Amino acid sequence: MSDAPIGIYDSGFGGLTVWREIRRALPHESLVYLGDGKNCPYGSLSEERVAVLAEASVRRLMEEGCKLIVVACNTATAAAIERLRATFPEMPFVGLEPAVKPACLRTRSGVVGVVATERSLAGRKFLSTVERYGGGKRIVKAVGRGWVEAVEADAEAAPETERRVREVLEPVIAAGADVIVLGCTHYPFLRPVIERVIGDRGIEVIDSGAAVEKRVESLLDEYGLRAAEGHEAEYRFLSMAGEEYCERLRRKAFACEVARQENNVYI
Ligand code: DGL
Repeated sequence: MSDAPIGIYDSGFGGLTVWREIRRALPHESLVYLGDGKNCPYGSLSEERVAVLAEASVRRLMEEGCKLIVVACNTATAAAIERLRATFPEMPFVGLEPAVKPACLRTRSGVVGVVATERSLAGRKFLSTVERYGGGKRIVKAVGRGWVEAVEADAEAAPETERRVREVLEPVIAAGADVIVLGCTHYPFLRPVIERVIGDRGIEVIDSGAAVEKRVESLLDEYGLRAAEGHEAEYRFLSMAGEEYCERLRRKAFACEVARQENNVYI
């Protein structure tokens, strides 16, 4: 048993969509969220640069005494998870990957759309997942250009954002995809606009939030690290971009939590 916090790391706001799943399922666990903010977006940086940034963030979370670290960023996972595991062998890590496997099991048309950052789609990890689970299915890849920036600017509801979402999704839909994977943790914030663009075309949208939460639970059990039942959880927010960004992280975290409860869906 351990009352030490779980660390959650992303380039910015995206990992909050994972934070809210963990907070909901594990109310006794303290959480330290680190949203880089200064170097966001990661999507078009080099693999080496993302790996260096990820290592610095993990060191910061370790200074906070974290017992487990969730790399709540597909891009940083693709670039750095193997290196992080090798550099910090004592630390249990959970990484994020686009949910290609469940999507391939669910498609009826045989075409799966995957929207993610440039770096995630180019990573070896993504290619090997597609090779392993994509057998016989057509995977249509698309970069969510401007999507991360829209979420970072709190501009989910702006008409310009809807235009960008439409621009990315229409070719994927035209290719026949009946399941679309959101392969970046920022994208679930755009779910209302994504669903508006899809309309009644019978396309399922899936992300990795719930699966990651389940993985966190199983690792806590494996290492005997769950917090005590009576432990009162604390929530902290850190950033490389200064105090104001930390405050924005806190506000967005609790706002997205409320929205999730009200709609009973991801926002
Ligand atoms: N939220 C991140 C991901 O899951 C990174 C987005 C970015 O910084 O480009 O890929």
